[in-house]
Amino acid sequence: MGGFITLAEQARSSHTLETRLFRPDGRRIGAVGLGCAGLSPWMYARPDLDDQAWASLLNAAVDLGVGLLDTADVYGQGHNEQLIGQALGHRRSEVLIATKVGMVVDDLATLTWHCDGRPTHLRAAVEASLRRLRSGSVDLCYLHRVDPAVPLEESWGALASMVKDGMIRHLGLSDVHVRDAERAHRIHPVAAIQSELSLWSRAPLGGRRHGEDVVDWCARNGALFVPFSPLGRGFLTGTITPDTSFAPGDLRTRHPWFTSAARAGNHRILTPLREVAKRHDATESQVALAWLLAQGDHVIPIPGTTRLVYMRSNISAAKLTLTPQDLSLLDSTPPPAQEPS
Ligand SMILES: NC(=O)c1ccc[n+]([C@@H]2O[C@H](COP(=O)([O-])OP(=O)(O)OC[C@H]3O[C@@H](n4cnc5c(N)ncnc54)[C@H](OP(=O)(O)O)[C@@H]3O)[C@@H](O)[C@H]2O)c1
Repeated sequence: MGGFITLAEQARSSHTLETRLFRPDGRRIGAVGLGCAGLSPWMYARPDLDDQAWASLLNAAVDLGVGLLDTADVYGQGHNEQLIGQALGHRRSEVLIATKVGMVVDDLATLTWHCDGRPTHLRAAVEASLRRLRSGSVDLCYLHRVDPAVPLEESWGALASMVKDGMIRHLGLSDVHVRDAERAHRIHPVAAIQSELSLWSRAPLGGRRHGEDVVDWCARNGALFVPFSPLGRGFLTGTITPDTSFAPGDLRTRHPWFTSAARAGNHRILTPLREVAKRHDATESQVALAWLLAQGDHVIPIPGTTRLVYMRSNISAAKLTLTPQDLSLLDSTPPPAQEPS
């Protein structure tokens, strides 16, 4: 055993944690969270590691001070929540666990799903999530998508009734416009919104001039803004080249921004990132996350990773302060060659 260092021991080694205020309950949490989807068959599962390895990673995340873990009932069709419940059921007070309901998997292999925002489905889904998470209440429960067939007021009202019943502490919305946030907020406070936001996917900021900016909306209304896929699904880390091959079932095998041609064309996106990274002796991932953190002190990105070394590096991004020159160079990052279908 001489020289063997466990994941948890590695994780506990020195660092001072940067934190941000989760205004809805006054709790300070680590400025960089962890997206857990990759730990289950969903978007980019690594089949080479087992649940025990993932349990170590999750515990290491909490040891390191990651305060926000992001999961959903559809990730691995319950597997992701179960993993978190098994690994962290005894450490519930140390971390804010966010899950999402309102989507139903049709076929896990092809990653097809549909919305179900009916109150009966949402209540049954939250009950099932609580069992898997081994918890009496969900810290933060998002409506994963607004179901076009169900008025938002009905879905949100059902979730709000579960707050009254003690099953959920705070409510969030995922992938919404400001007008949805306003409608929901009139019924029950929106504690958090998560949308895709990164240097190559800036839709949540895109309508800033038209009052459609959900990031600003969150700041004005005391809500957390949680950028999902903050590393551009791996592209902004600079580790994906036109030759990188993805495992079968990996979402990126059929994502239009990840075709070989798109990857070659999108390489130019990395130029400003690399220039800023060089100025600060940082990695591309750290700069991509620092840019997000600079969008407001109510922003907590949730990079997904299956590797402790990446997780540690991502957390350190909170120590990186970008200058106005850095930010203006990064803001000039060109959009990807192809929009997602
Ligand atoms: N609400 C929604 O609809 C929605 C949609 C998508 C995602 N999400 C949430 O957002 C989370 C994060 O998004 P995401 O996983 O799609 O994309 P992401 O965080 O932008 O990128 C994840 C990819 O980056 C790699 N990576 C992470 N840190 C790295 C580093 N320091 N160096 C090199 N590579 C690194 C990971 O590789 P390894 O796995 O090899 O570490 C993985 O392939 C998800 O886990 C999920 O919780 C929510």
